[in-house]
Amino acid sequence: MMEPFVSRALAAGRPIRMNDPDFARHKYEWYRWMLEEVPVCRARISLMKLDVVVRYEDCRMVLTDERFVRNRARARGKTDGSPLPFPLPRSVAAVARSMILEDDPEHRRLRNLVNKAFTARAVGRLSNRVEEISHERLDDLEKRARVDLMEAYARPIPTRVISEMIGLPRADIRELDDSVRVLTNGFSGLGILRTLLFDLRAVNRFVRALIARKRDDPGDDILSGLIEAEEAGDRLSEDELVAMVFLLIVAGFETTVHLITNGVRTLLEHRDQLDRLRAQPELWDSAVEEIVRYRGPVHGTKPQYAREDVRLHGVTIRRGTPVMPLIGAANHDPRAFEKPDVFDVARSPNHHLGFGFGAHFCLGRPLALMETRIALRNLFERHPDLALGVDPEELVIANLPGWHRHEHLPVVLGSGRDS
Ligand code: HEM
Repeated sequence: MMEPFVSRALAAGRPIRMNDPDFARHKYEWYRWMLEEVPVCRARISLMKLDVVVRYEDCRMVLTDERFVRNRARARGKTDGSPLPFPLPRSVAAVARSMILEDDPEHRRLRNLVNKAFTARAVGRLSNRVEEISHERLDDLEKRARVDLMEAYARPIPTRVISEMIGLPRADIRELDDSVRVLTNGFSGLGILRTLLFDLRAVNRFVRALIARKRDDPGDDILSGLIEAEEAGDRLSEDELVAMVFLLIVAGFETTVHLITNGVRTLLEHRDQLDRLRAQPELWDSAVEEIVRYRGPVHGTKPQYAREDVRLHGVTIRRGTPVMPLIGAANHDPRAFEKPDVFDVARSPNHHLGFGFGAHFCLGRPLALMETRIALRNLFERHPDLALGVDPEELVIANLPGWHRHEHLPVVLGSGRDS
């Protein structure tokens, strides 16, 4: 039966407003309807008009077909130009113009420079450090009965890991974490101007100061390696260096925080699956992949731009239009997954799109999987009685198009302890 909010939208025949609180709250009902009825959907995010595709095969097509590109200027036939849909002051544009908004060959050249740091082998070497950080945080929580797990546990782990990988001094982590949070919240909705003109400038200053310090005092970290590449010649400009550091920070902080919290909530709501993991801990790797599919933190990729008019399911996607593959919906497409709404820690095969697809497939996947597996396994081992601290209906999903993340995750860690 059609949900009332969906039938209202259908009757009105208007573009779906992706930053309407109703969309954030009932995302999965919207997705079910879109998957069946409107596989190519006109949508709006604040003032931006876009088309959205939701089916698994359509998302993969838009992310790989040559009729779509990432750089907006290229979609309009220009060989050079800003990939951004609006003009920005030069200093600020440098931060926002990372490889995630570029096509090959520029994209490939930049990605090759950081690839090495994220291979499965490089990430394997970091796992002891992640274990240490996770246990340190859990030791801190020993005497507490109720916490917001997001701030007390899920956030500190990826924040510390990516900061150490980049070579950020510990004293600066807090400042950077605050700025990134403001930024990822501010990119949706009407706060965008403030974000672009004020917050982004602050991050720009912060990253440039960090680079200046690293030039004087290099270490064994990714940033020092990138600076070396920049100083070695024309492989990387200063602006590209700034953009890369910024991208790694943004991509590495928030995504993992919300994968951990979405994972905790999902497992608490599927206790049978948690019991299965206790009996068969070798299933943890596939469990984390299933969390990414079932309730991943990233629901939309950056838009692709059509280079020509494209007909899809009877709808014309116009040249130059931004098209967002809604991977959060595709991951529940019954054409691609058997019983997509069932959470199954042993699901196989599981070719989900939660880390994207094609040229921009997530660079940090091995790191994200390793951090999340360690964080969840240690948490549930040390707190087998963990429970939500509020009714599930009271948990607030943030109204951020393209994301699926909670505002907070209050939990009870164990019985009979002091708050
Ligand atoms: C925790 C879960 C994570 C999820 C669900 C996730 C998801 C994604 C997705 C969907 C994309 C494709 C975006 C697009 O096509 O526009 C992407 C790209 C990317 N991710 Fe992740 N990510 C995660 C963690 C990380 C981590 C820890 C890092 C490490 C710093 C990272 C670095 C990147 C980078 C650099 C790109 C851009 C790659 C490119 O443009 O070639 N991600 N990620």
